[in-house]
This record gives sequence, C-alpha cells and structure tokens, in this order.
Amino acid sequence: MTQDLTTFDLLDGVPPDPYPVYDRLRQEDPVHEMEGGRWLLTRYEDCSAVLRNPTMSSSQRDIGSADEPSLLQQYLSKLMLFSDAPDHTRLRGLVSRAFTPRVVEELRPRIVELVDQLLDEAEAAGELDVITGLGRPLPVAVIAEMLGVPAEDHDRFRSWSEALAHTVDPEMAPDVAERATIAGLEFMEYFNELSEERRQRPQADLVSALVAIEDGGDRLAADELVANCILLLIAGHETTTNLIGNGTLALLRNPHELDRFREDAGLAKTAVEELLRYDSPVHLTGRAALEDTEVGGVDIPAGDRVTILLAAANRDPAAFADPTRLDLGREDNRHLAFSSGPHFCLGAALARLEGQIALSSLVTRFPRLELAADEVEWNPTITLRGLQRLPVAL
Ligand code: HEM
Repeated sequence: MTQDLTTFDLLDGVPPDPYPVYDRLRQEDPVHEMEGGRWLLTRYEDCSAVLRNPTMSSSQRDIGSADEPSLLQQYLSKLMLFSDAPDHTRLRGLVSRAFTPRVVEELRPRIVELVDQLLDEAEAAGELDVITGLGRPLPVAVIAEMLGVPAEDHDRFRSWSEALAHTVDPEMAPDVAERATIAGLEFMEYFNELSEERRQRPQADLVSALVAIEDGGDRLAADELVANCILLLIAGHETTTNLIGNGTLALLRNPHELDRFREDAGLAKTAVEELLRYDSPVHLTGRAALEDTEVGGVDIPAGDRVTILLAAANRDPAAFADPTRLDLGREDNRHLAFSSGPHFCLGAALARLEGQIALSSLVTRFPRLELAADEVEWNPTITLRGLQRLPVAL
C-alpha cells in the first residue's frame, strides 16, 4: 500500500523501515508541511543549510513537554543542546575545555578493556544480545567513569538516562513526562552532591575539571554544571548504543560488507562513518525559525518549527553516490549523523572511538556472527532510532 504523503507525520511513529517513505518525501515533497506550523526536511542541502543558519533556533524548538515552566523545563533550558548564541557559545566553550580530544584519546585502552570484558562474558555464555550485552553497558561505563561516577551507581544511571532520553522527542505522553521529571530530579540531586564532593576533594575526572573551570571570571554556574553533566551522560549513552546496535544489524544484513570488515580491520574508521550514515542513531533534530526563512524554495514563516530528518539527508543521492548501498570503504562521506554547524556533536570523537573498537572487536572475535531472531523490534522513541534487542549467534 502506498502511503499518502500529504498527511505524513513522524509523531505518528517511525515505520520499521522508514527509508522508502523518506525517499518519496525527498523526491516529491522535500519541504513537507505538517499540522500546526511544523515542517519536515529530507534533502541534504536543505538540512545542512538549516543546521548552519543562526536564525534557526535550538532554544525555541519543540522538545519533550511543552507545559508551563517546570523543573524539567528549567533543566532543559540550561543545556547547550537547547540554547542559542551567545549562551550556547559560552556553555559549549566551557564544557569543551574539559572534554578535549586528548581526554578522549586517553580512554582508548580502557574502552578496549571494557569491550574485551563484555565479549569474554558473551563467549562464556555462548550467546549475545548486542544491545544489552555490549551496546548499552559500554557507553554508560565509559561516560560514567569519565565523569567520575562510582561503578556501583552505573545501574541507577542507566535507568535515569533511559527515562530522560524521551525528553528529546518532539512530544511526550504525560506518564513518560512524569517519569522523566522524577528521573531528572534524582539525577540533579545526585550530581549536586557529586560536584560538591569534587569541589572539596578534586580527582582526575571530568566533574572535577568542570567544577574547576573559570573563564575570565565566568564560571559554570552550579545548575549549568549539573545540567550539562546530565547532558553528557544522556547524549553519550543511548546514541552510542544505537550506533553499535544499528551498525551490527546493517552488517548482518549485508554479509559481503561484514566479510570485508572482518578481513580488513583497517576499515574501522570509514566503516563507522558509513554505518552512522546508513542508519543514523539520532534520526532527527529540530529548530524553530526566528525569522521568515526560505528553505529549498519554500517560505517558512517566523515561529514555525522545522524537523531536520538527518537519516533522510544521509541517503540523499544528490550528496552520496548510490546511497542505499552500504559501502564500508566509502570516501567523501560528509554525513549529518552528528549534525552540522554550532551544535555539531561534542562527543563525536568519543562515539567514533567506541564504535570503532566495539564493532571491529565484535566481528573479528566472532567470525560466524549471525542474527538469531526472525524479526527485530525498534524502540518507540522518535528522535533516537535504535533496537530493543539484537540477539546474535556466535
Ligand atoms: C553515535 C553516537 C552519537 C550520535 C549519533 C550523536 C549525535 C548528535 C547530534 C545529531 C547532535 C546535535 C543535535 C542538534 O544539532 O540539534 C549532538 C549533540 C551533542 N552530543 Fe552527540 N551524538 C553521539 C554521541 C555523543 C557522545 C558519546 C557524547 C558525549 C559523551 C555526546 C555529546 C553531545 C553533546 C554535549 C551535544 C550538544 C552539542 C551542542 O549543542 O553544542 N554525543 N549529538
């Protein structure tokens, strides 16, 4: 059955295989109008232009709960992800002084060790769910250790950040919003205590580094510090899980590419870029037009909100040769999976490193890797595209 494109709206849910409808949108209605002053973009050029346009706001965009000022809203408003220049520039500048490429590169041996441990456990068990056995535990351990969160708290962290992951969706059901609010409050309390502790007794971790940061008298205020620690944790968690999950699934469904990867570990870098492009872990992001703006020949009035479908842009034939083909050696791969412009993913280097180590270890260590389920089930979140489970035979 061919879907009627005029009423297409992602709020109705992302289809299990969304790419055919994205292709049709891109061809037939690339600047697609939805109800209530909302637009959906699917062309690479339009998406890229909007992400880099300073009059397209991240602070006014639709996020999670749009109810009257709540604690959750207050917290969300302190995130660099949901702020515009000059606040954004300041927050990002302060956090990136602690979260540097060197700090990330120093994590390499620890990531290798964590991946080896998880794969040892899988080998001993004789089976693996790539989501629960590798994709979830790895990033949460990495970012929690990096921040300086004790190991015994990692499980609590995971459940808080899962509850909060919904806040990046364009809309949230009331019960989901309530769970997110509770998780947010507990999280804030936790980080308030942790940062107070580090203020007294600094350690070699990111929370201590953030507490110490001063910028010409400008400090990261306590609430900003806590909010952005939570952001690092959430942003670095389910996204990376989805890279590992979606990436493994794409490899299993393209056995030639899987063989190619196994035989040439040197492909890890381009392979991860290609997997990010092919089934993007962050499916979309949003902006709000502060001024009347022309996008792809269509006038978008001030105040309207725009959804940038990164996953569709990443399959645009105008930007990628043969975009539906998975090619682990693809060159000139300027995908938008980490966004573009001022909000370009701050954790991209870390995500890439984790993805490269996890995926290359998985395929080389288990040469007979096979999908052990007839069907796969996707999470109900809209912004974060990922699998609920991915059982594989070793
Ligand atoms: C595969 C994994 C990841 C993907 C696909 C991803 C994707 C993205 C995207 C698309 C954005 C920008 C959204 C926008 O323009 O509105 C973003 C922002 C961000 N990401 Fe990531 N991310 C990943 C992993 C990480 C990790 C590991 C961290 C940190 C530990 C992280 C931290 C951040 C932060 C702090 C921002 C906000 C940047 C800003 O607003 O200036 N991300 N990410």
